[in-house]
Amino acid sequence: MHLKVAVILVAAGSGERLGAGMPKAFAPLCGESLLAHALRGVFGCGEVGHVIIVAPASRLDQCWEIAGHNRLDGEHPHVDVVVGGMDRSASVEAGLAVLRPDDGIVLVHDVARCLAPPDLFARVIQAVRAGHPAVVPGLPVTDTVKVVDAGGRVLETPDRESLRGIQTPQGFLREVLEHAHAHPCGASATDDAGLVEQAGGHVRVVAGDRRALKITSPLDLTVATALLQDGSYAG
Ligand code: CTP
Ligand code: MG
Repeated sequence: MHLKVAVILVAAGSGERLGAGMPKAFAPLCGESLLAHALRGVFGCGEVGHVIIVAPASRLDQCWEIAGHNRLDGEHPHVDVVVGGMDRSASVEAGLAVLRPDDGIVLVHDVARCLAPPDLFARVIQAVRAGHPAVVPGLPVTDTVKVVDAGGRVLETPDRESLRGIQTPQGFLREVLEHAHAHPCGASATDDAGLVEQAGGHVRVVAGDRRALKITSPLDLTVATALLQDGSYAG
């Protein structure tokens, strides 16, 4: 059966660390909002039937406007705009609440990774369709990573070969993601796949993409600007 794909685009964060004086989704990057860039990646994929933008309560109209401007010609995915929650997980759950009955595969994507290209979405969707119920994009880690205690003492240096930096979009069979959010176990997870892992589920890593960098601080915005300007970004 060809399952339909929905994308929950979480864009309700305040962007404190970016310090743009506005929620991060609306901060400008080369003259357009992060949300506009992110939607181009989603719409460009062509396999997405439903896009749920999860936004700050004061910005819903602006989301509709940006979504309208960035639609591509041809078949349009159905778009919803909903209000986010207190933390990222609550925002994902606000998106889950408006899934349509026939949404069978759900991708969760951070607007902060606004240059994630369409083929990254396609790769994640393909892996879910191939039978993996939870799929995350990951990149080899280039820094040496150390585990430290609260006093800064190094406890351990994990083998770098086995480490991956994990990105979004993360893709799931709908019931797997719904179950993980409905039955969170243990410590808080920083991503959706973490909830699936805590629930005992298997998560598969596919190749990530450096263009899907997470814009957190002003330096990241500088890097993203350079990517767009020097032609190495071909989303
Ligand atoms: N997010 C969300 N709802 C929240 C918090 C975060 O939808 N209550 C989203 C953000 O919009 C972002 C993603 O989750 O796309 C990852 O969060 P982060 O990069 O931390 O963004 P912000 O929370 O906006 O930034 P900061 O932590 O610096 O305030
Ligand atoms: Mg945050």
